[in-house]
Amino acid sequence: MMADNNILNYDTVALDDSRHALVIIDQTRLPNHIEMLALTEQKEIWDAIYLLKVRGAPAIGVAAAIGIYLAARQISTDDYDTFCQKFKEASDYLNSSRPTAVNLSWALKRMEQLVIRMKGQPVARIVEALHDEALAIREEDINVCRAIGKNGLALVNPGDGLLTHCNAGQLATVRYGTATAPMYLGKEEGYDFKIYCDETRPLLQGARLTSFELSSAGMDVTVLCDNMSASLMRQGKINAVFVGCDRVARNGDTANKIGTSMVALAARRYNVPFYVCAPTSTIDMSIGGGDGIVIEQRKAEEVTAMWYKQPMAPEGVKVYNPAFDVTDADLITGIVTEFGVAYPPYEDSLARIFLKKEVHSKVVDLLK
Ligand code: MRU
Repeated sequence: MMADNNILNYDTVALDDSRHALVIIDQTRLPNHIEMLALTEQKEIWDAIYLLKVRGAPAIGVAAAIGIYLAARQISTDDYDTFCQKFKEASDYLNSSRPTAVNLSWALKRMEQLVIRMKGQPVARIVEALHDEALAIREEDINVCRAIGKNGLALVNPGDGLLTHCNAGQLATVRYGTATAPMYLGKEEGYDFKIYCDETRPLLQGARLTSFELSSAGMDVTVLCDNMSASLMRQGKINAVFVGCDRVARNGDTANKIGTSMVALAARRYNVPFYVCAPTSTIDMSIGGGDGIVIEQRKAEEVTAMWYKQPMAPEGVKVYNPAFDVTDADLITGIVTEFGVAYPPYEDSLARIFLKKEVHSKVVDLLK
């Protein structure tokens, strides 16, 4: 355990220029051990993403951006074409670590586009620009999450009971989180929420991570098993649900941590608004609907053995362990982005959000 026990004082994901390393908190060891890892090799970075040492869609995107910059600086050539080929190989490798969170490929594509735009310039200058782009992606994440927090906070009232599933918090981003951003901003403004965290089987991101970071921030947090949220909703204790997402399709269907769709179904039954907090980097307009989203399947041991002294299922039994499920768009009250809240029909409202984004980046470019 590190000397400082407040998890919010550590960077989830950062670049250490002096060591040329991706620095992350090892999330598999939380909440009992705060351990920082400095990763320099591509295999280490791939493993860290696959093993969920760094996890959560935006944090994975930032880790990939820093990771591919580190790969680029290790390519020893002055020839642009050779550089490009090796860069693409490294990018494909990192991209294969997890399939569902679109931020991974989004960040890698953004880095690759920079390489393409800089054709003709010295390789050393391209590597420098990749460094700056990775840091820009990291910095933008903070602003995006804060904007999501502001837009989400407008949907709730002081004293509300808020339910969240998995960890879409600071540990899944650079700061604020997405689903937790309205909670952090509410805390700054004295909203006094009662936060309920689903423990989130099988990897316990809610119990281990969300409740840890929110209680470190001094919030009123209660952990519950995944099969308990409907009972809270029936008692009227939940005023709104905020969840994150790994990939939102054009029609609003949303892939998020397994169990999210169950929460959405219960919320519909008990008339509780169900909000998906989505940076536009997690919205994949190239996919029409949820059936087009690849769902990661994970090892059986995560369900049968991981948290127990002895296996809790007979040896060899078949196990169903998808990491994510798809919540149908018609169960989602609104999708909270950094450019405002999208409401059904999502094909139209998400298109308008992207239009706003385009206008915004043109204005930013003009002001440069
Ligand atoms: O498997 P994980 O822990 O990476 O899954 C994370 C989630 O499902 C989060 O809700 C999602 O990535 C949003 S993070 C802001």
